Amino acid sequence: MSISSPNPSPPISPLHQLRIDLADRSYDIQIGCGLLDRVCAADFGSASSEALIVTNTTVAPLYAERLQRVLANHHARVHTIALPDGEAYKDWATLNLIFDRLLRDGFDRKTVLYALGGGVIGDMTGFAAACYMRGVAYVQVPTTLLAQVDSSVGGKTAINHPAGKNMIGAFYQPLRVVADLDTLDTLPDREISAGLAEVIKYGPIADDDFLAWIEQHIDALRARDKDALAYAVRRSCEIKAWVVGKDERESGLRAILNFGHTFGHAIEAGLGFGTWLHGEAVGCGMVMAAELSVRCGLIDAAYAQRIARLIDRAGLPTRGPALGAARYLELMRVDKKSEAGQIRFVLIDAPGHASLHRADDALVAEVIEARTV
Ligand code: NAD
Ligand code: GLY
Repeated sequence: MSISSPNPSPPISPLHQLRIDLADRSYDIQIGCGLLDRVCAADFGSASSEALIVTNTTVAPLYAERLQRVLANHHARVHTIALPDGEAYKDWATLNLIFDRLLRDGFDRKTVLYALGGGVIGDMTGFAAACYMRGVAYVQVPTTLLAQVDSSVGGKTAINHPAGKNMIGAFYQPLRVVADLDTLDTLPDREISAGLAEVIKYGPIADDDFLAWIEQHIDALRARDKDALAYAVRRSCEIKAWVVGKDERESGLRAILNFGHTFGHAIEAGLGFGTWLHGEAVGCGMVMAAELSVRCGLIDAAYAQRIARLIDRAGLPTRGPALGAARYLELMRVDKKSEAGQIRFVLIDAPGHASLHRADDALVAEVIEARTV
């Protein structure tokens, strides 16, 4: 299947609000500066509702106190739990720490969880919210570029299993997404680059004009120019909201958001979670998937080179680790898009258009040989 691009919107205003349209699970995505001090929970917080901020040991000292202060205006009680930091902790044992805390302190089913952090915290908090007392509400407060442009939007929640990435989880939508661009000020450069991988993703799969815009602004984005970041977050969220609004539970179209992820997840699992950042693995995975698109005769080599050049300019690896073709194929068969043991890849079939394809193992092995060191 292929899609036509959703319409882009005019330049950013100080607070931009997008709607993700999912019937009774619809919600707003707020994007702007200084939002952390203005989180308005009035429409879902109440004198009787309690809140737990779920964050990690890196983000807590930076932002938890500010969020706790503003939420105290809307909830009867606000507590914070700081989990250990890292992809390696996106697991059952760490998830259980959230349940232990909720139960120990007697949080009831009207509790609202706030995910304050990157995609790891967002995915785990969302999954905890989906499970605790069979479901409590949660709000995404993403503080990485990757989380602001992708993981906080759309309701995919999960933890990893040693056998595969994000294998245990649920679709569970938040009440709201509040993306404060100022939180990106404290993000390490390597994490900005990782986030740019998911920004770049939206170009080849849905909007070739956006790809051209990113090419023109990649240096400004890496230098954290606020206007450039604001537009990148907003356009990424517009595209993601459009895709998720059409296919919330990934029966088809939503799979395009996984461009580069089949190779990328194999890199993450193969090296051990946390060795490469998720965005680094996805960036390199997109280069490999673009190369596979060429070898399948879908696009010309120049378009794949264009993607690889941009990934490189974003400060991301363009060659994968040499795990061997057999190991890559073994890891990729565990992918959620696989059917009856057959791997399916998101491939580019025209600039700004993507769809799911099967590919011969031999062709995939050729790409792995060509694109790993
Ligand atoms: P992350 O959550 O590990 O955050 C990256 C690092 O930045 C961490 O060390 C974190 O503590 C730190 N950090 C966060 N905010 C900071 C800030 N403002 N200042 C300084 N440091 C800060 O990684 P990520 O890249 O945000 O997310 C990756 C995860 O997201 C992966 O687990 C991936 O599977 C998941 N993901 C989920 C979806 C989805 O749709 N649910 C989509 C894409 C990715
Ligand atoms: N990041 C993939 C998805 O949300 O579907």
